Amino acid sequence: MPCILLTGATGYIGSHTWLALQDAGFDVIGVDSLVNSSIRVLDRLETIGGRQPVFVQGDVRDQAVMDRCFELGQARFGGIKAVVHFAALKAVGESVERPLDYFENNLGGLLAVCQAMKRHGVFNLVFSSSATVYGKPERLPITEDAPLRVTNPYGQTKLLGEEMLRELERCDARWHVAYLRYFNPVGAHHSGLIGEDPRGVPNNLMPYVAQVAIGKRQHLNVFGNDYNTPDGTGVRDYIHVCDLAEGHVAALRYLADKGQSLTVNLGTGQGYSVVELAQAYGKAADREIPLVFAPRRPGDVDACYADPRHAFETMGWKASRGLEQMCIDSWRWQSTNPNGFEG
Ligand code: NAD
Ligand code: UD1
Repeated sequence: MPCILLTGATGYIGSHTWLALQDAGFDVIGVDSLVNSSIRVLDRLETIGGRQPVFVQGDVRDQAVMDRCFELGQARFGGIKAVVHFAALKAVGESVERPLDYFENNLGGLLAVCQAMKRHGVFNLVFSSSATVYGKPERLPITEDAPLRVTNPYGQTKLLGEEMLRELERCDARWHVAYLRYFNPVGAHHSGLIGEDPRGVPNNLMPYVAQVAIGKRQHLNVFGNDYNTPDGTGVRDYIHVCDLAEGHVAALRYLADKGQSLTVNLGTGQGYSVVELAQAYGKAADREIPLVFAPRRPGDVDACYADPRHAFETMGWKASRGLEQMCIDSWRWQSTNPNGFEG
C-alpha cells in the first residue's frame, strides 16, 4: 500500500485525514511538533483505527526530523509516495500580532518540507490552502478562478505558499501539487474520540457554540446582524471534517493517477448563517444556545461559500454530510470530552 507522510498529523484536520487514509488502505506516517495539538491524539487514533500510529515528534523546519520521517517510511513501508502538508499556525488574529512568527513557521515550514521531499525524491504534495485566499469575494458561489487577495498575515502565508509551489512546478516538471482550498471545517469523527480541541477561547464559530452548549460559556456573541444576508448574520460554507479528510484521499489518488496538479475548493456549496448554525447545534445538543448580538468582527465578510463542482468533476469527490450531522458529531465529541484531550 502507498505510504503517505502527514505533517501536522495530530492536529484537527490531520488526525481525521489519518483515519480516512487508513480506511482507504494507505499506510501513514505522521509528524507534528505538538505546538497546537496533544500527544493523546495518538492513543485515540490507535483505538479507532486498530493500528499503532507511526509518529515522529518534531518541527518540520528541522531537516533531521524530516529525514527521519522519510527514512522511517523507507524502513517500514518501502518508501513515502506523497506528502500532505497540514503543519501551520492558523489563528488570524494572532497572525496580525505576530506576523513574523507566521511567516517563519508557515513559509519556512513549507520550504523545509519541499526541500526534504526533493532530497528523498518525492514530488507529489497536497497543500492545505484556505478560502481565505479569496478575500472578500466579488461573486458567489466562489469558483477557483476568482481573484486572489488576502487581508492578514495568515492568509498571506497561504497565498504565498500557493505561489511558491506554482513557481516550483513551473521550474521542475517532476512536482505535482494539489492545492486544496478549505472552506469552514467543523464536526468530528463519529466515534466521538477525536475532534477539534482549541486552546483558550475559541476563535471559530462551531467550537465556541460547542462550549456554550456544554456550559463553559454563557452565550454566543453573534458578530454583526446587519450583513447583506437573509437574516443579517454572516454566512459560511461549513464542511464536515470527515468529508474534508476524504477530499485528501481523492486528491492523493488524483495526483497518483493523473500525474498533474489541481486546485480545488473543498466546501459543500451550501451557506448557513450564524443563527442557523447556532439553532442546528441547539437541536443536536437538545438545549438552547443563548445569543447576544455584538458588533461586527473586523475583517469579516458577509457571505462566503464554495462552488464545489470542480472538485467533483476532477476528483469525483463531493461532501455528503449535512449541517445536522456536523452538529451531532461535534456534540458527541464535546459532550464526552468536555476538556478535549486533556481529560
Ligand atoms: P491544527 O492547529 O489543529 O493542526 C496543525 C498542526 O500542525 C498542529 O498539530 C500543530 O502542532 C502542527 N504544527 C504547526 N507548526 C508546525 C511545525 N513547524 N512543525 C510541525 N508541526 C507543526 O489546525 P488544523 O485546523 O488541523 O489545520 C490544518 C491545516 O489546514 C493548516 O495548514 C491550516 O492553516 C489549514 N486550514 C485550516 C482551516 C480550519 O478552519 N481549521 C481552514 C483552512 C485551512
Ligand atoms: C475564519 C478566519 C479565516 C479562516 C476560517 C476557517 C477570521 C477573520 N477568519 O473565518 O481566515 O480561513 O476561519 O478556519 O478569523 N462568529 C460569531 N461569533 C463567534 C465566532 C464567529 O458570530 O464567536 C461568526 C463570524 O463573524 C462569521 C462566522 O461566525 O460570520 C464564522 O466565523 P469563523 O468560524 O471564525 O470562520 P470565518 O469567519 O469564515
